[in-house]
Amino acid sequence: MWEDSAQMPSPSNPSSPPYPLHNRQWTLADRAVGRAVRESDFALVTRPVPPLREGELLTRTLYLSAAPVMRRYMLQGGAGEKPLQFGEVMRGRGVGVVVASRNPRFAPGDFVQGKLGWQEFSVSDGSPYFMMYKIAQRIAPLSTGIGVLGVTGFTSYLGLLDVAQMQPGDRVLVSAAAGGVGSSIAQIAKRYGASRVVGIAGGPEKCRMLVERLGYDAAIDHRAEDLHERLGALLPDGLDVMFDNVGGATLDTALLHLRPDARIALCGRISEYLGDEEQPYALRNYQWLHKRYATMRSFFIYRMEEDFPRAERAMAGMIAAGALTFAEDVLEGLERMPEALIRLYSGANHGKQVVRVDPQAESYRDLNPWRSA
Ligand SMILES: NC(=O)c1ccc[n+]([C@@H]2O[C@H](COP(=O)([O-])OP(=O)(O)OC[C@H]3O[C@@H](n4cnc5c(N)ncnc54)[C@H](OP(=O)(O)O)[C@@H]3O)[C@@H](O)[C@H]2O)c1
Repeated sequence: MWEDSAQMPSPSNPSSPPYPLHNRQWTLADRAVGRAVRESDFALVTRPVPPLREGELLTRTLYLSAAPVMRRYMLQGGAGEKPLQFGEVMRGRGVGVVVASRNPRFAPGDFVQGKLGWQEFSVSDGSPYFMMYKIAQRIAPLSTGIGVLGVTGFTSYLGLLDVAQMQPGDRVLVSAAAGGVGSSIAQIAKRYGASRVVGIAGGPEKCRMLVERLGYDAAIDHRAEDLHERLGALLPDGLDVMFDNVGGATLDTALLHLRPDARIALCGRISEYLGDEEQPYALRNYQWLHKRYATMRSFFIYRMEEDFPRAERAMAGMIAAGALTFAEDVLEGLERMPEALIRLYSGANHGKQVVRVDPQAESYRDLNPWRSA
């Protein structure tokens, strides 16, 4: 089997000679304790690809995702993960193609999304830890396997409909609306009957994108505008649902605008991630939860894994129906993974931050050179 995997083809040359078996990997070199992530927190190393053991599969990485939670992997672990040790490969999800397999559930040529890590090749045993899902859909680019048709999109869909229980007619507010999770929420909300959706984002370009491309009725630029004042103007009767990705002062201000029985989905609180966890932002307007009989509910998307197929079907259906435009911010090359993570904290990303690791990523699906049948 290992000899076979040395004959790894590429789309440009399906019968290419033995593929180089080195693997470039980003490893942890320092911890961003009490500060933003820096490029020097990571080291790019080259290591051999180990031989496959029984039950394992080898995946070639096509795309990698950048997600705010990765900073927590570097520090105290988080999201059910142990803290990374120095020299360990950075964790993260990606889309890949199986190039060799000693696991009966995966065959060369299968496209998967799962925990591939920041590296060009990944060896996994296909166990639940790796959360490897096969990608069967052909309606959208493979990159969507870590975006709108992956865990990011499932977070948008399930967070809005299952956690916040959005109802037809609801007025919806979304923070970090131009990011990976936020960028599909207005379109889902409209599809399920929301009467008005307002997004908060940083900068005029992102605000334009929200309204012109992503289905938002209005946008608030949190860098230039007074949130309380703008919410009063754009949602004069208040809000029924808030999908909150930001926390802190943004959430606090939104509490002043709740309608009776409002529901808040606590998805993330990126404005607080760089602060002191022992001294979190103290909500001052919390009494409005009482006054409006409102509910605030947090969720962790990996606890909703049984609902992923439902979310994927619904999101793919919306794309097929032309009802869901997705926004991806694609950087080229594995070298740019640290930059991709840093961009989430500076707000540079427009849409889901993705890195294309293999320049030919999309053409693998057309050629699918490993499939003989
Ligand atoms: N609950 C779950 O299971 C789950 C799953 C996935 C993600 N999440 C959470 O969902 C949120 C969005 O994740 P994502 O991957 O889609 O990232 P993202 O929204 O694509 O990127 C993060 C965005 O947050 C905004 N931001 C950064 N620092 C900020 C600050 N100090 N104050 C206000 N806004 C700030 C920036 O947008 P602007 O430039 O527009 O400000 C930035 O583009 C994060 O909080 C993440 O932790 C939760």
